[in-house]
Amino acid sequence: MEHKLLLNAFSKSTDKIPIWFMRQAGRYLPEYRQLKKQAGGFLQMCTNPEFAAEVSLQPLNRFDLDAVILFCDILTPLIPMGIELDFIPHPVIQNPIENSKDIENLKIQDPKEYLGYVGKTLEIIRQKMPAQKTLIGFGGAPFTLASYLLKKHKDKDFSSIKKFCFAQKQQYQKLMQKLTESCYHYLSYQIQSGAEVIQIFDSWAGCFHETAYRELVLCWVQELIQKLKVDFQVPIIYYLNGGSHLIDSLLETGADALSLDWKINALQLVERMKKKKQMVLLQGNLDPFYFYASQEELQQEITRIVEDFGSHSWIFNVGQGLDKETPIAQVEFAISQIRKIKRQNS
Ligand code: CP3
Repeated sequence: MEHKLLLNAFSKSTDKIPIWFMRQAGRYLPEYRQLKKQAGGFLQMCTNPEFAAEVSLQPLNRFDLDAVILFCDILTPLIPMGIELDFIPHPVIQNPIENSKDIENLKIQDPKEYLGYVGKTLEIIRQKMPAQKTLIGFGGAPFTLASYLLKKHKDKDFSSIKKFCFAQKQQYQKLMQKLTESCYHYLSYQIQSGAEVIQIFDSWAGCFHETAYRELVLCWVQELIQKLKVDFQVPIIYYLNGGSHLIDSLLETGADALSLDWKINALQLVERMKKKKQMVLLQGNLDPFYFYASQEELQQEITRIVEDFGSHSWIFNVGQGLDKETPIAQVEFAISQIRKIKRQNS
């Protein structure tokens, strides 16, 4: 019987710490840069199942990781909704949402028909990956997708979505309803195509006070997770960047695991969970820029993280995607340090 360390961490506590990294496939790997050139660009790589599967598997050829993550982007599923999207390499949307008509015009399409390359990529990865690894599928959370949909070319930040949701609450709710439905279909399709764990990325939802987060974001995340839970048994990880002030709400999302950025105090979070008797698996929380520090400092930071999580079950990961120039040897070093640790089970 195969032993999937990462998948098993959701159901029982183990003495080994599972490892994977957000953006584990990317520009810091020479083999990624070469394949991207061959494919003709980032989007071409995402939409070609052979290329996308190969690039998803590349980090496993180098590193002792416990998971493969589908290679795609949180924004690509917006294309069949009628959105013109480009990556240069930052995402640029040519036709951002401006009024209620634009929201009405957003199409909800059958992902099997319009995003078939995603299902095909997952199938190829499942065939090629070692049985003891776990395949992670993912998508953007409705709010984070909405943040991009509202962002105009000249916007320096994501203030357009904040203006919109306070000024035009009804329209905002309509947009979120559509995006939640679309996310549900898209993630269901990934599960049906072989994803064993789903991570939902809510990269920009840390921009609110807790009151607004609950009203404008949390309810939609809860709806999405609950709908997926009714239909599937696949564990769900929720990632939010900059959410140290939202701990109590994060514990109410219904997610099986919370992925933490590096700013959050994991020790305090674990204490809070114990007090509330609401224990979930955690993931995190190395600042990816520590890979640029000396090995000694990186080692010290890893030790701090290990101590903060203590006997609580967790998955080692970065608090935000790996940077594009991350030194490969430092990634190897961090993995080797974690592999030496035998966690005390609680
Ligand atoms: O983690 C993985 O290895 C899977 C692939 C993945 C990508 N994007 C590939 C990608 C995942 C999970 C994402 C998620 C994503 N995309 C998020 C959520 C996570 C986060 O960082 O908060 C967000 C906000 C995006 C939007 C996005 N896509 C941005 C801001 C950028 C440009 C950033 C950059 O690195 O320059 C992208 C492009 C993108 N998505 C790249 C990759 C590998 C770089 C493309 C390239 O030039 O090769």
